[in-house]
Amino acid sequence: MTRSVGILGTGSYVPERVLTNHDLEKMVDTSDEWIVTRTGIRERRIADEHTASSDLAYEAAVRALKKSGISAEELDLILVATVTPDMFFPSTACLLQDRLGAKKAAAFDLSAACPGFIYGLATGAQFIASGLYRYVLVIGVETLSKITDWKDRNTCVLFGDGAGAAVLGPVEDGAGFLSFVLGADGSGKDHLYIPAGGSRKPATCETVEANEHTLRMNGREVFKFAVRVMNSATDEAIEKAGITREDIDLLVPHQANLRIIDAAVEKLGLSSEKVVVNLDRYGNMSSASIPVALDEAWEEGRIHGGDHLLFVAFGAGLTWGATVLKWSESIAPSQAKK
Ligand code: UT7
Repeated sequence: MTRSVGILGTGSYVPERVLTNHDLEKMVDTSDEWIVTRTGIRERRIADEHTASSDLAYEAAVRALKKSGISAEELDLILVATVTPDMFFPSTACLLQDRLGAKKAAAFDLSAACPGFIYGLATGAQFIASGLYRYVLVIGVETLSKITDWKDRNTCVLFGDGAGAAVLGPVEDGAGFLSFVLGADGSGKDHLYIPAGGSRKPATCETVEANEHTLRMNGREVFKFAVRVMNSATDEAIEKAGITREDIDLLVPHQANLRIIDAAVEKLGLSSEKVVVNLDRYGNMSSASIPVALDEAWEEGRIHGGDHLLFVAFGAGLTWGATVLKWSESIAPSQAKK
């Protein structure tokens, strides 16, 4: 990269309503015991009927801008990673641009499912590294509760709603993003998808009747893929960054299943205090998982100048992404303000 690019500030927001495993026991044939042992999830947040993705994204964005000390008017680009946009078009990024008053910012959405935030970081960083832009707001936001089949116990226990944001900008030489790994294998497209509502199968009374606007997943296949790709993507990101596993200070993995995270952690040989886990409280928030976990880690004072952070995610597509970020010395935890 021609210019070093890093994260200047983060923010997150989750809806107030909590749905616990015990609540789900009353809705489908499941148990708190099954959900906790198979996934590690205990509760998740659910947006109300009036709340859309852009509403959650707005709250996270305001917090990230405040902590970074950058105003909305200074933003050059807003990039929203989501599979649950407010509508097909205009993009959720445009809705946000208007609400934030980010008058000079270009805006677009990015569809890469759970690794969407990492795809977004990689995309936004290129604009800054090239010198075209200075400040880019990247957001991962989902209201997965709106595309969940609440009668399907295989999926409805897994997901939650939330938003996380990061302001990207130039940082000192040697800091910032040291590597990016992005990948896709579209042959796995049938493992996680929504059957109807697109141009292949537009919405009709029949598709609504058949509940085809909710997500379908082959959990076992996604699980196997996830364990494999978490290992290969993290190894590649570490190697490309020119560091070793021992240099990793904090792993911020996609929060889908504790067993998947544990497998990656074991392979990397990391101790538990070097891993951020919040899926017990939020479930899988797809593209919002990593930025929410990152923001919480920063608020808790777990990130320091010079630390090497590793993000890794996998998801529908199938897609994956990983990045190594050296936290800028000029962004100390003490700067974090609510
Ligand atoms: O962000 C990417 C999105 N997706 C993922 O990351 C998903 C990755 N996959 C997973 O996390 C796991 O595969 C699941 C948590 C989805 C499922 O765990 P599993 O250990 O792979 O269970 P399974 O699908 O093999 O199902 C085991 C049994 C089945 O019963 P039978 O066929 O053995 O009688 C299921 O019907 O558990 C049953 N089951 C449940 N039982 C109680 C499935 N869901 C539930 C449930 N409560 N909620």
